[in-house]
Amino acid sequence: EHDDLTTHFESTIARDQRIEPRDWMPEGYRQTLIRQIAQHAHSEIIGMQPEGNWLTRAPSLRRKAILTAKVQDEAGHGLYLYSAAETLGADRAELTDKLIAGKQKYSSIFNYPTLSFADVGTIGWLVDGAAICNQVPLCRSSFGPYGRAMIRVCKEESFHQRQGYELLTTMMRGTDAQRAMVQESVNRFWWPALMMFGPPDDQSPNTEQSMAWGIKRHTNDELRQKFVDMSVPQAQVLGVTFPDPDLVWNPDRGHYDFGEPDWSEFMDVVKGNGAMNFERIAVRREAHENGQWVRDAALAFAAREEQETN
Ligand code: 3HC
Repeated sequence: EHDDLTTHFESTIARDQRIEPRDWMPEGYRQTLIRQIAQHAHSEIIGMQPEGNWLTRAPSLRRKAILTAKVQDEAGHGLYLYSAAETLGADRAELTDKLIAGKQKYSSIFNYPTLSFADVGTIGWLVDGAAICNQVPLCRSSFGPYGRAMIRVCKEESFHQRQGYELLTTMMRGTDAQRAMVQESVNRFWWPALMMFGPPDDQSPNTEQSMAWGIKRHTNDELRQKFVDMSVPQAQVLGVTFPDPDLVWNPDRGHYDFGEPDWSEFMDVVKGNGAMNFERIAVRREAHENGQWVRDAALAFAAREEQETN
């Protein structure tokens, strides 16, 4: 019996078919998906904070409306992903507790401060651009609910990237001070954006198994390279440079060569020592505590409904 189930699972993966929640799956597959999907969801929710910082200070009503729509989308992405994690038996409340307790991760990129309004554009262009590079292949992830959640997320992420790039284009057509603000923002976000893709493949303990299970479709370095190749021409059109003296087109490889990110900085930020880690978790904890009365009221209402129908 068990061998048949394993065989069925493996042949489904081998045929590039989807595993659905009610299918048998190896416990390791389930746990890897809960880990990745939960941390992906946490990233979306924490990712609301850096941009939220500029909601009340956007320079025009149009920019405020666009930013509001984007931050709202991130919340929705988080909710789709928590729902996908629940189809694997995870409990949404427990996942939030793990995030707040520092037992689960969220993307390193959100531990960098948003110091100028140009950062709102740079996050849209580079951070959501990196997220698109990472999330498009996830639309073909072997676990059905995850892949399907990604299809909607990617559509909205494209709007996020376009609005960011358009914001920066507008600033680049402005004053010298605005152009300098954009370049300063790009200088601060370029390397952290490359780190979003995770450690180098030879330091990635999860990649091999995740590729074998069809959870990941490309390695961290493959997606990072794709992102660099995509971003350089966009930077040229925009009129900004990236802070990497080793960034140069390599005709033999057909890709851009680029410098090595500072992996000790990456490990430090992932460990919790980034500029904003403490604040991001403190804000998330406070929001969770402030929402306790809503959860209590909903439970009390549900209990009364239950009583009245019994
Ligand atoms: N930030 C924080 N932790 C990271 C990280 C990052 N940028 N990159 C890797 N890590 C962690 C991993 O989670 C893993 O730790 P864990 O085992 O405790 O989970 C460890 O570092 C080793 O990394 P691996 O490469 O072995 O781990 P993965 O195979 O899970 O690969 C990943 C990491 C590429 C981030 C993969 O998990 C993934 O593709 N996740 C889904 C996409 C995602 O989470 N994107 C977040 C970007 S932000 C976003 O999408 C919001 C958008 O609106 C901007």
